[in-house]
Amino acid sequence: KTYRVAILGATGAVGTEFLELLASRQFPLADLKLLASPRSAGRTIQFAGENLPVEAVSEDVFNNVDIVLASAGASTSRIWASKAMASGAVVIDNSSAFRMEPNVPLVVPEVNPQAAFTHQGIIANPNCTTILMAVVVWPLHQLEPIQRLVAATYQSASGAGARAMEEMKAQAQAILQGEPAKTEIFPYPLAFNLFPHNSKLNELGYCEEEMKMVNETRKIFANPEMRITATCVRVPVLRAHSEAINLEFGRPFPVEKAREILSQSPGVKLVEDWQANYFPMPIEASGKDDVLVGRIRQDISNPNGLELWLSGDQIRKGAALNAVQIAELLVKENSLVTPELAISGKK
Ligand code: A2P
Repeated sequence: KTYRVAILGATGAVGTEFLELLASRQFPLADLKLLASPRSAGRTIQFAGENLPVEAVSEDVFNNVDIVLASAGASTSRIWASKAMASGAVVIDNSSAFRMEPNVPLVVPEVNPQAAFTHQGIIANPNCTTILMAVVVWPLHQLEPIQRLVAATYQSASGAGARAMEEMKAQAQAILQGEPAKTEIFPYPLAFNLFPHNSKLNELGYCEEEMKMVNETRKIFANPEMRITATCVRVPVLRAHSEAINLEFGRPFPVEKAREILSQSPGVKLVEDWQANYFPMPIEASGKDDVLVGRIRQDISNPNGLELWLSGDQIRKGAALNAVQIAELLVKENSLVTPELAISGKK
């Protein structure tokens, strides 16, 4: 069986990765539609040796589409997801628009694949830093429940999209030539700098990105009380996010046991050479499917604590790959019929 797929946001950083993954993972495609804003209509993009046209997203464009992979921002998803569903497609949405809606599953295939099959037409792909963290800490949490998690993130420009990556490169060039760095996407220069994540702050002083890590992890782990805190920082890295994570358990968690578990966990690769001081780095995580984890050590301030460090490709596992894995799950379990359509018998 093959499927008709549309990519909403096909010209963006994540959209580009969707194309690469559909080809390299040999997704069973019957048809592929590339959708973006009217700005991009008329462009063509190469896919599997063919030049495919980019269409402006519109009312009737989702007719005859089975799966929409959306990564065009929350406001675009809010407008188009319901229209795509109404025409019979299942939407896998990378934006934050529907993630916390109770009837929308929030899925990391290595953690809660079963949640995907409860969908009612939309499945949300979690926030990138949340996905990378979830894949790594879930297998440890399975052996010994995490009592408290403290994260600090080192997030690349790619998280803010393709134009943000270009902006940082241009800033680096300008600064090296002794010129002022121009800012348009980011509020401050990112090249040769860093700043706390610039998403909206709440009354407690946490930014949206930090609250996504808290609330989305709780939802994915089905553990609404889980104690999590985070500080999110944008760093001058082009692609791939890193995170320092402190975990507290109810009793000591042997470091050797954590290493053993993480060296066998799906989607995770243990990268540690203590002699060479060699651990996960964003340039090595870039373009890889696995989240790299290492520097696992006992927290010297807490007998029940573990410290670890990870780097993962934000565009790949943090976004496009996770969404494509969800699509593969639906295909494998034949879960592409929405309840409403099952009733009306349209498919
Ligand atoms: P476009 O290139 O036409 O602006 P990124 O996250 O890398 O910035 O990419 C965002 C993606 O979302 C791009 O493909 C972009 O298309 C698309 N997009 C942005 N705004 C809209 C919109 N209003 N309607 C449809 N697609 C949009």
